[in-house]
Amino acid sequence: MEIDQPLRLLGGLSAQQFMRRHWQKKPLLVRQAVPEMVPPIARGDLFDLAAREDVESRLIRHGAKGWTLRHGPFSRRALPSLRQAAWTLLVQGVDLHHQGVHALMQQFRFLPDARLDDLMISYASDGGGVGPHFDSYDVFLLQAHGRRRWSIGRQRDLSLQPNVPLKILSRFEPEDSFVLEPGDMLYLPPRYAHDGVAVGGDCMTYSIGLRSPAAEPLGADLLARIAEARADELQDAVGQAMAHYRDPSQPALQNPAEMPPALQAFAREAVLAALRDSEVIDRALGESMTEPKPTVWFDAGEPLSASSGVALDRRTRMLYDARHLYINGESFRASGRDARLMRRLADQRMLEPRDLAGASDDALSLLSDWCEAGWLHAQ
Ligand code: SIN
Ligand code: CO
Repeated sequence: MEIDQPLRLLGGLSAQQFMRRHWQKKPLLVRQAVPEMVPPIARGDLFDLAAREDVESRLIRHGAKGWTLRHGPFSRRALPSLRQAAWTLLVQGVDLHHQGVHALMQQFRFLPDARLDDLMISYASDGGGVGPHFDSYDVFLLQAHGRRRWSIGRQRDLSLQPNVPLKILSRFEPEDSFVLEPGDMLYLPPRYAHDGVAVGGDCMTYSIGLRSPAAEPLGADLLARIAEARADELQDAVGQAMAHYRDPSQPALQNPAEMPPALQAFAREAVLAALRDSEVIDRALGESMTEPKPTVWFDAGEPLSASSGVALDRRTRMLYDARHLYINGESFRASGRDARLMRRLADQRMLEPRDLAGASDDALSLLSDWCEAGWLHAQ
């Protein structure tokens, strides 16, 4: 992507300027970010997605009983009538299921793939919304159909209403308000309070959401992965000489149940030695960040055929670093020409037949395995 060219999507800013001035700092309202916006997915098709087991959906209503939240899947009959006011259907991960929506999301790939999460679509009947709240991640709110009034504010007081199944701010103090028309877009940094309400009829909003792992669960996930990888290494190392605990200076004890401090120090060192290798942590991170969402499974495909190009399945997550490729939760070491080829695949999400013409047998066999796994398709 040309990161220094002005982009309509960002109101004439280049991606570089946007990142410097707005990203994680302040909101940006862009009128006609997507000119003549025609929603790539029709309302009926969105409702069909909400009926599927492998799609996460939620129904939010606001009425006499206050806020209510139900989790999908929803058959069409389980949704309120279109004439009924003030309900919202949220459908998560639409980019994984719909090519047009997936293609739209590609415009945001000036951001790291490791940070882009998914595209959620909210359908709201007139007056519908999910209430004033804040999110812990950045979001681009693209109006796809109908009109929505967004009220936003920096909001110091982040206390939430008690006994409500949603996160709703107790004392929302909006500072600004705008009505977004189809094609308009609002970027909000994390923790910026917002409240969007459909006005003048129903509406659809696309939320391009970012993911920002919290340190503690990320750390826990990486430790579990490292432990598993370490256990596999040890299986392979059975029979090899290992450094056992030795204690030639251990004195005789009157309290034999007391844990020897030298054994504690030995254990600490054994754990830290496993973590001191930064490559081990990098690898665990790459595998974690490319792990498909729990609802995703791939159908087996055909092996790679000669003279075709390949494209990543839209659900495939692929990243790389200086030494590795990461794809759908697995890591591979790569260097030289093979690494350059695979990095191109990760960045462009496709390779032309001419890219494959000069590929090594190892690279072709890996690509063929991925085709058979359904991660990649010949085209
Ligand atoms: C919505 O589109 O209704 C909710 C999106 C959000 O507030 O992040
Ligand atoms: Co939000």
